[in-house]
Amino acid sequence: MEEKKDFVPDKYWYDSIWIYVFGFIILIFLGIVFYRSLNPEWKQYQAQFKKVVEKKLGPEVARKIDFGIKQIWNPDIMGPNVADRCITCHMGVEIKGLEGEDVPVVFRTHPNPDGIMDKHPIEKFGCTSCHGGQPPALTVKQAHAGKGVRWLWPVYTREMQKKYKIEENRLVMIQINCNHCHRFDKETPGMDYINLAKQIIQEKNCRQCHVIDGYGGNIGPGLTYEGDKSHELFDFSHIEADLEERELPKTVFTWHILHFENPQKVVPTSIMPNFGFSHKENVALAMLVMSWRKVKYPVEYLSNPDKYYTLKLMDEGRIKAQEIELVPRVSTIIKQDTQKVDKGQTANKVELGKQLFSSKGCNACHALTDQKLVGPGLKGVAERRKKEWIVAMIHNPDSMLNNDPIAKQLLKEFNNVRMVLTQPVNIEEAEAIYEYLKTIK
Ligand code: HEC
Ligand code: HEC
Ligand code: HEC
Ligand code: HEC
Ligand code: HEC
Repeated sequence: MEEKKDFVPDKYWYDSIWIYVFGFIILIFLGIVFYRSLNPEWKQYQAQFKKVVEKKLGPEVARKIDFGIKQIWNPDIMGPNVADRCITCHMGVEIKGLEGEDVPVVFRTHPNPDGIMDKHPIEKFGCTSCHGGQPPALTVKQAHAGKGVRWLWPVYTREMQKKYKIEENRLVMIQINCNHCHRFDKETPGMDYINLAKQIIQEKNCRQCHVIDGYGGNIGPGLTYEGDKSHELFDFSHIEADLEERELPKTVFTWHILHFENPQKVVPTSIMPNFGFSHKENVALAMLVMSWRKVKYPVEYLSNPDKYYTLKLMDEGRIKAQEIELVPRVSTIIKQDTQKVDKGQTANKVELGKQLFSSKGCNACHALTDQKLVGPGLKGVAERRKKEWIVAMIHNPDSMLNNDPIAKQLLKEFNNVRMVLTQPVNIEEAEAIYEYLKTIK
């Protein structure tokens, strides 16, 4: 008689074990998810924060802390749908008594160097306007928008500064963000790197070759919104080996640092001079050009708002670059200055101008008679031309030769031989030279 086979044979009994095991694993997994949702990262920080406050300020104060998700929202500056939730973890920023190295950095009272926090109250400016980062995120990785997170502006941490070999214990890369609103300040307390870079731009006369804020030459690319250029537009092919050897991250910021270090290494055909800057200067310049981007803040959140307004009008094509060009700018400055200058100063200026005329190499191309050398003889030039015109011509011949009708005409007369300065001449110096030329009749 044949045995019935309508039941699961003994040798398959272990299949049911698998089902139990899988069931159990799924249960544990759900348990973890459930526990995590009750105990997210930020809650762990808040629990730690309570302990820190208990220790530093006493249990009385700790009991008064209001826990939960915290946020700062100012639609003017953050847009209508976003709030900064950084203070959910950074709960101590506005609490006195949590300064100092023994408090973990995430819980510290916010530092107030140069009193800047009084100028930018947190309830108005939030955190991301200065620090960057992803406003509503509630994990460190997402909020700080570090590696692997798709967000344009990360929080610039000390760790990141180390990667770029910036030897500072302060947070300095943050100045990139400061300059979104302080772009047109000549100098701002608390922004030493950016101030240094702005000074270099003047001293090295980068505008000889680059349009910045609407004016300058066209030999190199325009830089007014350099910070908005995307990663894809930069060619890293000549520096791959350097990045690896020096352990630098492959970012646009690094591209700029290396390009200032040695333009020809990054762009072999470049005619941009190698200025021999130090690493600090390269970093400062890279920070400055990265900060040059279109900002959407309302005017009351900007320093020197009229300049931003002018730039906006230009972007919209409502005024031409030439209209805010050097000539009107110089003439306003000169008008203000002439009111200040007295006779005694004028005498000094003539002397200074005389020295500058040779130290800046003008005499290589100009005689002080009627005679033409490379350029026209300068006898009586102050009677032929307006003061503003002459000062502008000396300060920025390139721009004048491109835009000003009289200068363009002269260029034709001199067979397209351009007046080129080997050293920059600032407006004060140009004025002094003018005072000197006035005496050559
Ligand atoms: C989930 C908690 C959490 C959130 C949310 C959070 N942070 Fe932090 N933050 C930390 C911790 C922890 C540290 C300590 C150092 C670290 O881990 O990077 C820190 C450090 C910092 C530092 C100092 C970095 C340094 O190198 O000393 C800054 C600046 C900062 N955070 C800004 C922000 C900003 C801006 C936001 C909002 C966009 C934010 N954080 C949101 C947890 C958080
Ligand atoms: C006006 C710009 C500004 C705003 C707004 C601002 N910060 Fe800062 N923050 C700074 C500067 C500047 C420093 C660096 C000070 C230094 O290193 O000298 C700093 C430092 C920090 C540090 C590091 C503290 C330390 O001791 O190293 C943390 C953390 C921080 N900020 C978090 C925040 C949070 C959170 C907010 C929002 C509640 C915020 N900041 C708003 C400018 C700002
Ligand atoms: C969202 C725009 C914004 C950001 C970001 C910003 N500021 Fe300001 N800041 C302002 C405005 C607006 C004023 C007021 C300007 C005025 O009164 O002319 C100001 C004033 C100041 C002043 C006082 C200037 C004076 O003449 O009294 C200092 C110093 C300063 N900011 C430094 C900083 C630093 C450092 C940072 C970055 C850590 C920074 N700012 C970030 C908008 C900003
Ligand atoms: C003699 C002309 C000349 C001078 C002076 C000059 N540059 Fe350049 N610059 C160029 C040219 C040409 C390029 C394009 C080729 C290259 O990338 O090197 C360039 C490229 C750049 C770029 C990269 C732009 C991009 O998006 O590819 C930056 C940034 C820059 N210059 C900044 C400066 C600064 C800052 C100074 C002053 C310290 C300066 N340049 C002085 C000619 C000049
Ligand atoms: C490389 C030669 C060269 C150098 C150096 C030079 N110039 Fe010129 N300059 C010219 C030429 C050429 C013109 C005529 C316009 C043109 O073709 O660019 C000119 C025009 C001028 C004019 C206008 C003259 C007129 O008749 O309207 C003035 C003023 C002037 N230069 C002053 C200076 C001063 C001041 C310096 C020194 C800071 C200087 N130049 C350096 C070549 C030079």
